[in-house]
Amino acid sequence: MTSFTKYALKNLKLTGSVIPSSRFLANKIAQQIPKESRTIVELGAGDGVITRYLLKHMPEQAHLTSYEISKQLLPHLAKIDHPRFLVSNHSALELDNDFAQSTVDVVISSLPIALFDQAMKQQLLSQIRKVLTTNGLFIQYQYLPKDKKLILQYFPDTKTLWSALNVPPAFIYISRNSAK
Ligand SMILES: C[S@@+](CC[C@H](N)C(=O)[O-])C[C@H]1O[C@@H](n2cnc3c(N)ncnc32)[C@H](O)[C@@H]1O
Repeated sequence: MTSFTKYALKNLKLTGSVIPSSRFLANKIAQQIPKESRTIVELGAGDGVITRYLLKHMPEQAHLTSYEISKQLLPHLAKIDHPRFLVSNHSALELDNDFAQSTVDVVISSLPIALFDQAMKQQLLSQIRKVLTTNGLFIQYQYLPKDKKLILQYFPDTKTLWSALNVPPAFIYISRNSAK
């Protein structure tokens, strides 16, 4: 059993899944990152399965900050040695304290937003929109086809991809931030 699965079995409301994402899903997400990206943020890094993939495939000039709220999973992320990588134990809801307005090129989230209450979802989406640059990308992957309507309210330019080669299969929402 992986350390993520052990943690997830006791914290399902925070993870929404007990199995870490697959490399197929990681690959599909990494392909979305524009070549000119400099500042990339990951929300809900888990044990770093997607993080490692992003670090391998992100553009040369990019740096990645990964948020993970679980102290239990942090040691796995702390083992990742990369010159352009930072781990944050802050909640994703501190994003707009940590990043200035319009400074982030890509936000990649695997937060289980389907399990968040409405106020928390709205707070998160509004912070993501605020920190993203104009035309910046918000990528949300999850296992339930939920919350697209809400995401569209914040990001009218949103498309959905599907990754069948993941357990469970994942929905990937890709949203482009419009001018503020
Ligand atoms: C579905 S898991 C995804 C883990 C990993 N990224 C993957 O794809 O396998 C979601 C992760 O988000 C973390 N998380 C939940 N709420 C959070 C919050 N408010 N801030 C930061 N991380 C959070 C959980 O602890 C969990 O590790």
